[in-house]
Amino acid sequence: MNDTHQHIFIEGTDPKKVLILLHGTGGNEHDLINVGKHIDSTASMLGVRGNVMEGGMPRYFRRLAEGVFDEEDLFFRAEQLHLFLKDALLHYAPNSELVTAIGYSNGANIAATLLMKHEKIMDRSILFHAMVPYRNQHVHELNNAQIFIGAGVNDPIIPKNETQELIDVLRAKGATVQDNWYNNGHQLTLEEVQQAHNWYNSF
Ligand code: MLT
Repeated sequence: MNDTHQHIFIEGTDPKKVLILLHGTGGNEHDLINVGKHIDSTASMLGVRGNVMEGGMPRYFRRLAEGVFDEEDLFFRAEQLHLFLKDALLHYAPNSELVTAIGYSNGANIAATLLMKHEKIMDRSILFHAMVPYRNQHVHELNNAQIFIGAGVNDPIIPKNETQELIDVLRAKGATVQDNWYNNGHQLTLEEVQQAHNWYNSF
């Protein structure tokens, strides 16, 4: 199987459901396992490590500065991750019927890119602390996409207007987006995870 990304697959008790876990800068494939368990303790989990290094910290794509992305690399890495995920889902979870991405920060930004630029892999996406990953390029129609966004109004890394712009882009393309704002900064809180769990179970 495609070996571009270090990863972990944990089989759940319900083979129809898979969570794809995408960490923040400096994280790894294990980071969001507890969050995944909190969202759906029966689903299988595929934790994927970003394959770009920034001063020893794994990421999913290069950036030129904080919040300034290297678009060429972003598109290249998103394509690579897309192929990896397609392959990994076929390999580990050929009977999956509900695929949900859970991304935090840099992981949420690559998940947003997959949604906006690539053929559909995820039925639902939970994006914690995401920003608009690129501008002035094609964005797919996103009818039927179900998206939960969690954001901190005082997030110093992901400014509020960047998340709002992402929400506007996704909605303009037909996605159903539930946005949730917290009086927090960049950290992921239990409250956010709990609300994502409630959203995930509301269908
Ligand atoms: C990014 O580079 O994706 C964002 O700035 C968030 C982060 O620091 O990971």
